[in-house]
Formats: sequence, C-alpha cells, structure tokens
Amino acid sequence: MKPIKVGLLGLGTVGTGVVRIVENHQDDLHNQVGSSIEITKILVSNVNKERNIEVDRSKLTEDPWEVVRHPDIDVIIEVMGGTTDTKDYIVEALNLGKNVVTANKDLMALYGSELLEIAQRNGCDVYYEASVAGGIPIIRTLIDGFSSDRVTKIMGIVNGTTNFILTKMTQEGASYDDVLKEAQALGYAEADPTSDVEGLDAARKMTILARLGFHTAVSLDDVSVKGISSVTKEDIQYAKHLGYQLKLLGIAECDENQVSVSVQPTMVKNSHPIASVNGVFNAVLVYGEAVGETMFYGAGAGELPTATSVVADLVAVSKNIKLGISGKRVNTAYKQTVLKTDDQISSKYFLLLKVADRAGVLARITQEFANHEVSLESVLQQPNQNQTHAEIIVITHDASKAAIQNVLSSFNAIDVIHEVKSVYRVEG
Ligand code: NAP
Ligand code: HSE
Repeated sequence: MKPIKVGLLGLGTVGTGVVRIVENHQDDLHNQVGSSIEITKILVSNVNKERNIEVDRSKLTEDPWEVVRHPDIDVIIEVMGGTTDTKDYIVEALNLGKNVVTANKDLMALYGSELLEIAQRNGCDVYYEASVAGGIPIIRTLIDGFSSDRVTKIMGIVNGTTNFILTKMTQEGASYDDVLKEAQALGYAEADPTSDVEGLDAARKMTILARLGFHTAVSLDDVSVKGISSVTKEDIQYAKHLGYQLKLLGIAECDENQVSVSVQPTMVKNSHPIASVNGVFNAVLVYGEAVGETMFYGAGAGELPTATSVVADLVAVSKNIKLGISGKRVNTAYKQTVLKTDDQISSKYFLLLKVADRAGVLARITQEFANHEVSLESVLQQPNQNQTHAEIIVITHDASKAAIQNVLSSFNAIDVIHEVKSVYRVEG
C-alpha cells in the first residue's frame, strides 16, 4: 500500500513530538490507517541548528514551498506558529489538494472559517485538535460527542502556562517571573509569552470552542479578555484564606442563542472540580442541556501530549484519504451570533477594598451595593497591621456585570474608599 506522505512545517517542541510519535508508534499507525506514514520533508528556520532528535538532514529545508508544493506530499502538518506566512502556506497547500493538520489556535481563531471553506472547496480536510487544550481531545468531543445535545456553557482552564504559574504561586509562594521562565524552558509558553499571561492565547482557544459548541460564528473580538499579570500575591493569599483558588478561566455561555465569552482570573471555590486542576494541566467543563455537566482533563501543553493530538488528527485525515471522504465533514456555524449585554451576564463577584478604618464605613459601602440591587453573600474586614486603614473583602450573590460596574463607578465618589484593589468573578 502506498504510504501517506507528510510535510512537516516546524520542528520545535510540537514538531519534535510528532516525529517521535510517528516513529515510535509506526506499527499501530500502520494498522489503523492501512499504510505506513512517512515524514517526507520538514521546514525549519535554521537547518544547522542543533536538535534534540535525530532526523535525516536531507529532509530539512528552509524553503517553505519545497514542503508545501512537494508533489508527493498528501498531508501538511503545521506546527511552526504565526499567522501571516503560515496562512499563505496553508491556503496554497489546500489549493493544491493537500490536507492540513494544525496546532495553531492563533490561525484557527482568526482565519478558521475561511480556511475550512477553502478546504471544503478543494475537497480537503483541515483538522486542528491540538489547537485547544493540548492533549485533551476536546474538539472532536464537541463536534461528535455533543452533536445530539445543546451546549449551554463551556468553562475551562485552557492555558497551561498561566495555570502552571498560578499553581506555583499558590502552592510554593513562587514569584511570577521565576515561574514564567520555568514554563518557557519546559516548552509550554508561546514564543511571545505575553499572549499566555495576558489571556489572549486562552481567548483564541475559547473562540474556537464557542464556535463549535454553540454552532455560531463567534469572533475573537467578541471575547472579553483579562490576563493574570495584575494578580498579586495578596489576592492569592486571600483566595486561599477564604477557600478559593485563583484560576484563569475561559467561560462561554449560551442562553437561547445569546452568547458571551470571556477569559479572566476567577476565584474558584475549593470544592469545585476545576479548582484541583493544577500545573500545566487543562480541564474543560461542557454543560449540555440533556447530558448535564461533563469534564475533560489532561495535559494542555508540552511536546508529547500536544503531538498526540496532532498525530491523532493525522490518523483521521489519512483514514479519510483511504476512504475517499476528505473534505466531506460538515460543521457549519448555522446559528446567528447575538452577544449578551452586560445586563445579561451574571455571576458572583469578589471585591477587595482598601478603606478608612472608622465608624460607619462598612454601612456606607454595603449601602452602595444595595443602591444597585447587588445582594451580598459575605463581608470580611481585615485590620491593616499599621492600622492606617482596613481591608474589606466582599463576596456578592449573583449580580449582573453591569450592576457591578455601576457599583465600582459609584465608589469613585466615596472618600472612605481609598482603593478598589481587586475584582474577580467567582465560580462555585
Ligand atoms: P517552537 O518550539 O517555537 O517551534 C517552531 C518551529 O517552527 C521551529 O522548528 C522553527 O524552526 C520553525 N519555524 C518557525 N517559524 C519559521 C519560519 N518562518 N520559517 C521556517 N521555520 C519556522 O513552537 P511550538 O511550541 O512547537 O509550537 C508550534 C505551534 O503549536 C504553535 O502554533 C503553538 O501555538 C502550537 N501549540 C504549542 C503547544 C506547546 O505545548 N508548545 C501546545 C499546543 C499548541 P527552528 O527549529 O529552526 O527554529
Ligand atoms: N502556550 C500554550 C499554553 C500552549 O500554555 O497552554 C498550548 O496551547
């Protein structure tokens, strides 16, 4: 049987894992696909760079077109990252009738719909399982497993780097900068880690999940994004003290076709299953109207976990080639996107306030919440060690995002409130 020939764009963390898995699992892959899988050509930016895997040097090239336009190649695996040139390579490959597997969430969040359309026109597949939550097969789960249900909420830890940082800061009191460096050395972080720590990487992944879960063309601009760079050690200490974990959560909700998608550091009650997801691990909770709550957990980044998803896509694409059904997968965004307004987005909130430590202050603050019809679940006052002020922690009952914004604006005119130190959504 003719082998499936693969062109690999990129031989970094994920590309190296792909080569290892294709080599080490060759017999199993052969049995599943019905022919061998051969990596024919590999694009890198520097062919002379020292690598921690042995590859036939003649396969390496710095010329992308040598891979993309190679006449024998059936499948292009894109694990180089970036969006501009990368998109051109993928479009060219699709127009030449080649199937594509990618781990690139930036590309899929920005141009996913366009690429899927080009693929379908050319009778080709584009698979992108590794683009969200590394080794967790969440994309095929949403496409296939939830096809009979209506998804109402998707909530997840979908960025390994930030979960690794927050976990180490919580459990070891480690400094933000040190842990970020460690995550980079382990290959979890993006080339520019700003997209990890500022929440953009998670926002891209949530865009992809919301599209698949709600069958609607959510765009990256529809996502409200806040990262972890402003999280303080004090926030983490207060979270621990009150029985919460601070996690960077992506939350997508859909009620009667009205959708909201956000990424933000969130206080998660210790008893909630997502609170115990630590380190580089990711987890995605999917709530279906019929099935109820489900949870998917696994390594969200790193060489072999991510490569597992990439090679699983390669197997799926190869089987489609054998069966003659490439490009036949229908998965359209058939519902119109209507975004929820801030009045319609509701959750509990945690607020940490620095206030004057004198009579009547607490009453004044709670009155302001009452004025905006925000009901309080608990209030805790912590005296400051040098007694210059007090710190008040408020946890609200469910309140709309708009009401909380109104409360915060009204605080500007209250002189006994010196500073709103932190505001977090609360889950659980
Ligand atoms: P990486 O370690 O930085 O590797 C990138 C590879 O692409 C390198 O081999 C590099 O060549 C090559 N490359 C980059 N730009 C190039 C260009 N313009 N021309 C030629 N070659 C180029 O990246 P990675 O961590 O493997 O990530 C790859 C993709 O997978 C990204 O889209 C990322 O978001 C996604 N992803 C990563 C993970 C993870 O855990 N790392 C998880 C899920 C998804 P050289 O080797 O010569 O420098
Ligand atoms: N930088 C990403 C993360 C890699 O930390 O989750 C996986 O997409």
